[in-house]
Amino acid sequence: MPLLGSAATLTTRATQATIPAETTPKPFSALAFSLQGSVNGSVDTVSEIPAARVYRNDASSRNIVSRSIFAEKPVAPEIAQALVNLREFPVTNLKARTQSPQAFVAELAEQSLLHRAVNHPYLEAMGSGALPDTRWALADFGQQYQCYSKDFPRYLTAVISRLADPGHRAGLMENLSEESGIYEAEELTALSEIGIKSEWIVGKPHPQLFDRFCKAMGLEDQDLSSEPDQIICWREMLIGLLSSGTPAEAVGALGLGTENIVSTIYKPFSRAVAALPELAAKDTVFFPLHTAVDDHHQETLQGIAADLAVNDATRSELRRGMLKALALRSVFWDWMYRRALDPQNADKAL
Ligand SMILES: [Fe+2]
Repeated sequence: MPLLGSAATLTTRATQATIPAETTPKPFSALAFSLQGSVNGSVDTVSEIPAARVYRNDASSRNIVSRSIFAEKPVAPEIAQALVNLREFPVTNLKARTQSPQAFVAELAEQSLLHRAVNHPYLEAMGSGALPDTRWALADFGQQYQCYSKDFPRYLTAVISRLADPGHRAGLMENLSEESGIYEAEELTALSEIGIKSEWIVGKPHPQLFDRFCKAMGLEDQDLSSEPDQIICWREMLIGLLSSGTPAEAVGALGLGTENIVSTIYKPFSRAVAALPELAAKDTVFFPLHTAVDDHHQETLQGIAADLAVNDATRSELRRGMLKALALRSVFWDWMYRRALDPQNADKAL
């Protein structure tokens, strides 16, 4: 079985890592390979090239650590070249073809909004003023949530590092810039139309905007320096999911399970802060800002999700990532709700 990469014309492919001699290569049937238009150009035609089989050397993992391409018999140079130029491309299977990737992702996005994490009684009570002490509850939310939200750039960076497509990474880098307080001129114009002044947000990373809200609620630096175990657990489990799950799971978690719901779940907080006249619009800009810009962020992530949602395996991963992120947030709301219902005993809530 000759290694294609050993031919002089086939030396450009970075994935020609050699399988260690002591390792028995295993067929990696979960992936097919697009031919980048060189040979028929469609993943559906790969199986018609009898000379090529793809093997992986990490049979126990879904992630390819290194890969070699072997030919089982001699192939024409142009086919060999095309094979070496392959890029990974998930197989589209028949079941997945019954629904377009875009329709699948749109359906998942709708489902995310039906989750308890979005329709939690804590959010409903916060928005309607039904909690025993809305002011206390808002301050408590600020104190606890900042431990999670200050690390949002880390969550985003973790997902960016998982994406193989440069276009996907570039899209999320734009989101990351906005998280750092960098906006396009047209975005600032659109934000000014809903009352968000540029000077409130330009050059201000979003964690700083949330900190501004916390300070306006009377929280001091010392209040914001302690990290409850509940938040540490949430953050660590989320980062673990984004870093160690599959790329589709990571996109499902941060896109469908997080960005997709943000504009909805922040609305009750916007209503709650509006009921406190002592708070200036500048101090609470974090909420309307996210309601506005995260629509754009979720579009980017949904586009990436659609690009990944080409077979049943990646579709399941997207869905599972989404559900895991929603479940983590739902647990957080449970805890916040118990605290808000009984502020006197908030420290005993688990
Ligand atoms: Fe943000």
